[in-house]
Amino acid sequence: MPSTAGSGPPSRTRVGVFISGRGSNLRALIEASAAPHYPAEIVLVVSNRGDAAGLEWARRAGIPAVVIAESDRGRFAAAAEQALREHAVGLVALAGFMRILDTGFVDGWRDRLLNIHPSLLPAFPGLHPQRQALAAGVRFAGCTVHFVRPEMDSGPIIAQAVVPVHDGDDEERLSARILSAEHRLYPLALRLVAEGRLRIDGSRVVVAGGEAPAGILLNPREALVGTDS
Ligand code: GRF
Repeated sequence: MPSTAGSGPPSRTRVGVFISGRGSNLRALIEASAAPHYPAEIVLVVSNRGDAAGLEWARRAGIPAVVIAESDRGRFAAAAEQALREHAVGLVALAGFMRILDTGFVDGWRDRLLNIHPSLLPAFPGLHPQRQALAAGVRFAGCTVHFVRPEMDSGPIIAQAVVPVHDGDDEERLSARILSAEHRLYPLALRLVAEGRLRIDGSRVVVAGGEAPAGILLNPREALVGTDS
């Protein structure tokens, strides 16, 4: 018997995840949403590539997946809209989705469309942000989950994770360190959105009951030699 208002578990936000490749962030979101009190569920996966390895995570979890191998932006958007409607999706999460979306689609999903990017935005938008970070010589890198606006890799920032850059890093090592941070960050950000705890105030996102970490991170660390401790 269907549950009635006031009884049964509260309804969860229905999420569609767009991918183009490996799908490790999709996997992290699927795993997070398996927890009984997680406020969102992944109900649809959309890929623009039939050979995206990440489709396997959807299959294993029994989540419907559609491939929309359509290079025309407008036609991709129309097909995606139809799939999202059919699955009553309320929120879209881009996770390694490598196509630029139609502006009408982005506007239509304003504040209900998230993206993850492997840099501390607004630094290093676009392709190969980890390579850009190494070339710039930054001591900290990281990842960002943000609401999507039509300009690439822009929009109000929901959450960020910081990782150190080590002197011996190459692109592969730094990318792997950032990727593990992504797998923690995206489920956290999606949770905040699904719980309705965010208020967008211009370009800033205010988190109700949000707590910022304390302290200062230095890289390199202060040397312990020569101190009294
Ligand atoms: C991630 O680094 C994500 O931030 C970027 O593309 C990569 C996708 O990885 N947008 P995966 O497909 O989630 O493993």
